Amino acid sequence: MKDLIIAANWKMNKTVPQSISFISDLDIRISQWKLNPKLNKLEILIFPPAISLYPMNGRSEFISLGCQNIYFEESGAYTGEIAVDMIREYSKYALIGHSERREVFSETDEEINKKIKTSLSAGLTPLLCVGETLDEREAGNTFTKINAQLKNDLSGLSSEEIEKIVFAYEPVWAIGTGKTATPEQAQEVHEFITNEINKISGKENKRMILYGGSVKPENSKELLTKKDINGALIGGASLNVDSFFAIIEKSLELV
Ligand code: PGA
Repeated sequence: MKDLIIAANWKMNKTVPQSISFISDLDIRISQWKLNPKLNKLEILIFPPAISLYPMNGRSEFISLGCQNIYFEESGAYTGEIAVDMIREYSKYALIGHSERREVFSETDEEINKKIKTSLSAGLTPLLCVGETLDEREAGNTFTKINAQLKNDLSGLSSEEIEKIVFAYEPVWAIGTGKTATPEQAQEVHEFITNEINKISGKENKRMILYGGSVKPENSKELLTKKDINGALIGGASLNVDSFFAIIEKSLELV
């Protein structure tokens, strides 16, 4: 029995009306378990497009919200960016360092590190994503890559600050490709990440580490039963309320 976080990353999908109708539908389905104490061990979370955060806020007592990206500066001349102050009332989490941000928008570890610090000082929980590309995996560099990302992204943070971070292992080769890491491959990396974070923070602790990369109702349960896998970050399969709900339903059996 464990605590799990089941998170939807909608990426650049869904209009405001579509976001509202999704959360309303999901809320009705989840409310059937409102008297089930297991529901308290499951955190259900959605990262919608930023524009949907305000209209989605307050529509479900069972679903938390997070922002897909924030900027590290407080305010000012940064056209197109989102400051933590603009979303903190409607977001519990900030997704940071997703591979699409790193690759498509050339985000560096230095910027990611600043974003983590800004999120923490605003009281948001950073959900930090790390993971290797296919080339890195095939060259045997998975652990070197993840070690470097963690060291750089967590640089200068105290062990108390690191305690507040939730992590996601997202092998880049498994994102949106239909190729999932096997539960064994994922568990191996999750264990490595736990140990690395413990070394960096100087404290042995349990870490919340989600797996992401082509998670769907058919494979979620095997992944989530693994010891160091504490949840899932779901892209494609979270866009449809039936498949996202099916993953939640299966997860409830594991908590
Ligand atoms: P996917 O995306 O489930 O579509 O592979 C996961 C993610 O990018 O967070």
